[in-house]
Amino acid sequence: MQITFAASADSSTPRLVARIVDQEALPADLSRSDSEGAAAARFTGKTGQLFESFAERDGRVVRQVLVGAGKADAEGRRAALEKAGAALASRYMASGEKALALDVSGGNLDAAEVAAVLTGLRLRTWRYDRYRTKLKDEQKVTLAEAVVIAAPEGTPAAWEVEQAVAAGVELTRELVAEPANVIYPESFVERVSERLEGTGAEIVVLDEKQMRELGMGALLGVSQGSARDARLLCIKWMGGESSAAPTVFVGKGVTFDTGGISLKPPAGMEDMKWDMGGAGAVAGAMLALAGRKAKANVIGVCGLVENMPDGNAMRPGDIVTTMSGQTVEVINTDAEGRLVLCDALWWAQKEFKPAAIVDLATLTGAMVVALGHENAGMFSNDDKLADNLIKAGKESGDKLWRFPLSAEYDKLLDSPIADMKNVGPRYAGSITAAQYLQRFIVEGTAWAHLDIAGMAWADKAGATWGKGATGFGVRLIDRYVRDVLEG
Ligand code: BES
Ligand code: MN
Ligand code: ZN
Repeated sequence: MQITFAASADSSTPRLVARIVDQEALPADLSRSDSEGAAAARFTGKTGQLFESFAERDGRVVRQVLVGAGKADAEGRRAALEKAGAALASRYMASGEKALALDVSGGNLDAAEVAAVLTGLRLRTWRYDRYRTKLKDEQKVTLAEAVVIAAPEGTPAAWEVEQAVAAGVELTRELVAEPANVIYPESFVERVSERLEGTGAEIVVLDEKQMRELGMGALLGVSQGSARDARLLCIKWMGGESSAAPTVFVGKGVTFDTGGISLKPPAGMEDMKWDMGGAGAVAGAMLALAGRKAKANVIGVCGLVENMPDGNAMRPGDIVTTMSGQTVEVINTDAEGRLVLCDALWWAQKEFKPAAIVDLATLTGAMVVALGHENAGMFSNDDKLADNLIKAGKESGDKLWRFPLSAEYDKLLDSPIADMKNVGPRYAGSITAAQYLQRFIVEGTAWAHLDIAGMAWADKAGATWGKGATGFGVRLIDRYVRDVLEG
């Protein structure tokens, strides 16, 4: 989506002209037919509501759209404005219209708010059609340009920042959408490295030999049955004070999860190509932060493996030794995400002494049962970190809901033969998974675990995404960095 700016409308302005209106505050300059038409259509300006009309202006027929942005003082205003932009995109992206004008001369939006509308517009038009070679013309995305009319001062600069974030979300979606024969640990590293080139972010990659020397027996145990080599990808963006400890984001990057020897049933197994959604979000967020030159020290770590059954695969009952020295009895090879994360988390803490560490993972099916597709689950040992993340979630639209941790849940992981098992009993599966991870958090380190199993992929279109990869987590991380680390 190409975005340009113009001071006023002229004969080159696209025929499709949109205005963003606040709820119960329709513009005073509407024609009689528009204001009565809007009332007849029950258009009040609710978030994402649209009202279309045609009119003749200076000898041209224009297609005018009013787009609702909800109440101007509502909580999560930014997310609502993105939704408004997205609703516009969803209606016209494949309509045949190639360009639209966003007329913000009404003056109800400031620069950051206009940029939020543009973000929604751009994110909603994103679609991954790389493998669809037989699309008919009417199925293709046509909307490729938007010209903003009468933008408030500072809008191009605000958009410059937001477009970097949008590029991050798009990278995440692309990584998540790609099948596992295309994106596997090595190619994930390659794709992300290509995209980060020239941004100033520093990349460090550990291969299996290096991870073996470090003692990452849990992560390597998962990888053991795969023909693909595992990788640990580390992306550093040190844009803050050199003395400030970095905040580290760690992503689960299981490029395909068959379940291993504890094989998953066939129905829906193809979904497990997006079991790297946590790592995808971390990589996309790092592109966003580097792209907008964030004034903060942030490091992204992606634990990348493929979980396959094979003659060499890890067996149920095997005991692995993690980098922390703790031993784990692997009861179920399908509880592999935590095995990957425990070594990645430990390495990141030892290497960087982070101010806070946050992991993102499509970790448990139980999380989807609990929260569906509206919130990711959050677990944390630090109330301040938890509150800041929840706030960033509301503001960005990537919402979080906090779950408990306690010694009683932790005990469910005790093993008679090793330091712990990798799974607990049937119930509270998301919590015991989080308890497992907490056993690898160094005393005194602020940590949060985000179980995004229900959020990385959508079976139907949502606020700012179509069917498929959502890019969940990128805007959450970006917002947290802005408000907490740069604020
Ligand atoms: N990647 C899955 C979790 C998952 C399931 C994510 C569905 C998204 C949608 C994870 O590796 C897994 O298999 N978890 C098991 C854990 C169990 C064996 C304790 C699960 O949730 O069934
Ligand atoms: Mn699994
Ligand atoms: Zn998994």
